[in-house]
Amino acid sequence: AVSIAEVREQIAAATHAARSQGTANPVVALVPTMGALHAGHLALVARAREMADVVVVSIFVNPLQFGEAEDLDRYPRDLTGDRAALDEATASAVPRPGSGSSSVGEIIVFAPSAAEMYPDGKTQTKISAGNVGNLLEGRSRAGHFDGVLVVVNKLLNIARPDVVLFGQKDAQQVFVVSRMVRDLNIPVVVEVVETVREDDGLALSSRNRFLDKGERLAARVLSQTLEAAESAASSGIDAVIAAAQSASMGEPLVKLEYLAVVNPKSFLPVDDNYHGKAIVAVAARVGSTRLIDNESVYLG
Ligand code: PAJ
Repeated sequence: AVSIAEVREQIAAATHAARSQGTANPVVALVPTMGALHAGHLALVARAREMADVVVVSIFVNPLQFGEAEDLDRYPRDLTGDRAALDEATASAVPRPGSGSSSVGEIIVFAPSAAEMYPDGKTQTKISAGNVGNLLEGRSRAGHFDGVLVVVNKLLNIARPDVVLFGQKDAQQVFVVSRMVRDLNIPVVVEVVETVREDDGLALSSRNRFLDKGERLAARVLSQTLEAAESAASSGIDAVIAAAQSASMGEPLVKLEYLAVVNPKSFLPVDDNYHGKAIVAVAARVGSTRLIDNESVYLG
């Protein structure tokens, strides 16, 4: 594991190197992940490389955001595979135009130990995601977002990036992190990257590897539900709910946990008179694996 002191040194050295190559104000980007990297994570890394001179990818399965009965123990861990995936992403990338150098900057990987991140097992100081932290994902997973906000805060203080990147796949996470950054005046830009999907629509997730063949086929229902919602959006909220509900039924392997249409500005469910941009969010259990997805729609 790379220590906190070591990663800070690596970031300082990379920033220094960028300066001495003529970049007056090198931009540092952080991509927080829990590893088991897939093409969704790598899209965040690719965007970070476009935006920044120094890219840090953190890999840490954060115990604080897992509930007692959740899959912390079975969450996939593959640091060797993750490093290889990042090396490949670096090797296949084209140098930034005008960078004046043909060498592509290495990605700084920060994979701390749980003991260094949480010497006492948890933090004494808590961060609350507030009201939204108890809705949807937060309702199914009590304390989840509080744990996410603690680790994101720690990672921001460790790496001190100018930009931090998140995937729209976890729309409520984007919402609570953006609120924290605004509420607490954290000096970082939050960059959101759109969801990367398989050919049949299934959103990439580290948990997809748990699906057996039948479950993998059945899991298409999540994105199909969102597509049905999107097609009905011009007819308003009731049509959206009806279309999504009927699309999500009839697949015995998939147990819908929630289906919600929320206002992107508050993440609260929209009412009947709402018109405009909304997010349709869905969570379901496919066998023993819990999956989420969401799509932006425009309610007519
Ligand atoms: P993790 O699930 O590993 O996801 C890391 C980042 O990758 C998140 O911002 C997530 O939204 C993004 N991501 C995952 N699947 C994606 C996909 N199919 N398309 C685009 N982006 C995708 O989210 C977490 O880890 C943790 O909660 C973390 C923020 C690291 C805090 O512990």
